[in-house]
Amino acid sequence: MTTPQDPMVHVIDHPLVQHKLTLMRDKGASTTSFRTLLNELSMLMAYEVTRDMPMQDVQIETPLETMTAKVIDGKKLALVSILRAGTGILDGFLSVVPGARVGHIGLYRDPATLKAVEYYFKMPKEMPERDVVVVDPMLATGHSAIAAITRIKVLNPKSIKFVCLLTCPEGVKALREAHPDVPIYTAAIDRQLNSHGYILPGLGDAGDRIFGTQ
Ligand code: URA
Repeated sequence: MTTPQDPMVHVIDHPLVQHKLTLMRDKGASTTSFRTLLNELSMLMAYEVTRDMPMQDVQIETPLETMTAKVIDGKKLALVSILRAGTGILDGFLSVVPGARVGHIGLYRDPATLKAVEYYFKMPKEMPERDVVVVDPMLATGHSAIAAITRIKVLNPKSIKFVCLLTCPEGVKALREAHPDVPIYTAAIDRQLNSHGYILPGLGDAGDRIFGTQ
C-alpha cells in the first residue's frame, strides 16, 4: 500500500507483517524473539521491496522438456546496512536474495545534536550497475538515512530504495524533502518523535533490542 498523499511511501500493511511488528513492539519480547521476528518480518518486506526487480530469461531442462524461464540477478542488488541496527533487516533480506552484494555504513547519532556522524563506509564495487536498498529499522529524525543516501549517491548507483521497520511523520518528511527520488518502504508510520529522537509509540532502541545491550 502507498500512503494516499505520497506514492513514494509504501506502508507494507500485510497482516503477517503487522502481526509480527506488534509482537516486536511489546516490551516483554525477549532478545531472541525480537531478533527472530525482525528476521521473519524482513523476509516478508523483501518480498514487496523486490517486486519490480529486473528479471532475465534462462534456458533450463525440466524432467520433461527444455523451457525458457525467468530468474533474477541477485548480484545486481546492493544491500546497504546502516550500522548497527541495519544488520537485523540485512539478515532477513539475504535469506531471500542470497546473491546480493552488501555494503555497510557506520553512523552514530551525536546525543547532543542528534546529527549523524560517519565512522565507517565500505561498498561493493561497480555501484553504477547496481540497484541499492538501504536498510535501517528506525527512520526517526531522518539524519542517518539522509547522510547515508547522500554518501551513496556519490557512487552513482542505478537506483536507491530505503527500507525501515518503523517511521514517524517527522522522519518521512525529512527524508522525502532531502531525497525525493528515493522511495520509502516501512511497516508502520507511528505518531511522533519525542524530544530524544525516539519514535512514539515505537519499539524502543532497535539496536539494543536486537543485540540485548540495554
Ligand atoms: N532509533 C531507535 O532505535 N529507536 C527509535 O525510536 C528511534 C531511533
